[in-house]
Amino acid sequence: MDRRQFIASTAAIGLMPYHAFAAAPRHHLRAEVVTSQVLPEGDGVTRMLGFNGSMPGPELRVQRGEKATIEVENGLSEGTAVHWHGIRLENSMDGVPALTQRIIEPGATKTYSFVPPDAGTFWYHSHYISHEQVARGMMGPLIVEDDTPIDVDQDITAILADWRMERDGTLIEEYTDRHSIAHAGLLGTFARAFFSSENVRVGDRIRLRLINAATNRIFPLAITGASGRIAALDGMALPEPRVLDQMMLAPAQRVDLIMDVTASVKLDMMSRQGPYELGRIEATDRNEIRRPSLIAPLPPHDLPAPAAPSRHLTMRMMGGAMGGRHGGDNIWAFNDVSDMQAEPFAAIQRGETAKITLVNETSFPHGIHLHGHHFYELSDDGSVGDLRDTTLVFPNQSRDILCTFDNPGKWMLHCHMLSHAVGGMRTWVDVG
Ligand code: C2O
Ligand code: CU
Repeated sequence: MDRRQFIASTAAIGLMPYHAFAAAPRHHLRAEVVTSQVLPEGDGVTRMLGFNGSMPGPELRVQRGEKATIEVENGLSEGTAVHWHGIRLENSMDGVPALTQRIIEPGATKTYSFVPPDAGTFWYHSHYISHEQVARGMMGPLIVEDDTPIDVDQDITAILADWRMERDGTLIEEYTDRHSIAHAGLLGTFARAFFSSENVRVGDRIRLRLINAATNRIFPLAITGASGRIAALDGMALPEPRVLDQMMLAPAQRVDLIMDVTASVKLDMMSRQGPYELGRIEATDRNEIRRPSLIAPLPPHDLPAPAAPSRHLTMRMMGGAMGGRHGGDNIWAFNDVSDMQAEPFAAIQRGETAKITLVNETSFPHGIHLHGHHFYELSDDGSVGDLRDTTLVFPNQSRDILCTFDNPGKWMLHCHMLSHAVGGMRTWVDVG
């Protein structure tokens, strides 16, 4: 062998980026019937739906800026489709039957692939008869990893949800009860958080990613045993970490906390009846090494600064119990129109920035979600607030949002109270 040749080619290989050699990681999710210990250990188990034998489904971790490939195998006896909530991805990978894909038939597999542009906390869930399939358990966390790891001792994910079940853990399989749909939506009889870690040490600095995967429930939350700051909302880093006082998570919303552990960490849902414990992470040891330090912002997202809107749209939420009549043909409507129609709510030119005024004319709160984009919430004085993919609007209130529609395709815009969505509160925008 020519020795010089050998050395030269080795050097050339050394210059190539490492990931050119690594096989792109493939993830596999099999939607199937599972048995899950939702109730406390020792109480009954629940037969429900999930992925890869578990509910919530496995935590998927993908790398920002790198292609993620996820095969979804349908092991159910009915169709399904999976939506990657909050990811600004290619329209054909969005997982919305009728709008972006055909359903995945029983026994079939669909391969989704996309390059996630933002590092942060996202989640996946069924988007086919989702008021039912998500309520039965078809959801899980989707974490897009930072380019450089954050300085924490543990990165912990918590999936929060509630389920309508009997005391023995049997699901109450009734998902279209019109009374619930017309009110706050189907609410569970039992709620809890599933944490990705069981233990912490006193003195640990942790990142805690909270995901509200409930179909309809808004979680007002309180944490004891750790103190810290809010570092990200809906997967997007805040420019400055924010003081953590009141936390309210609408369905589908996420919050990332950076916290220092002082004792066992307890997560409570606050209610008029007092705190309801969703779960805890036991402090079993002490971290002797970590030194106190300020909580730094997470690496910034690279979305452009908000642009001035060239268009103003108004979306009035209508209907429901104790609400006015409307022109739609279902329980709920946007601007007198219920459900998905052939015509979009708006046809928007790619790159156009629109201000949308969301007016809640109903007697219930709604968490409005836009697919494929994040948008800025505007405050009453017009100043630019948080970047989100789901915004919570209370009765008799309105909220302006500002969105640059830079992602072409057909994107759903709907209430993420999934009972409200199936009751008519869903539409779409066409970005061309
Ligand atoms: Cu989280 Cu239309 O979905
Ligand atoms: Cu709603």
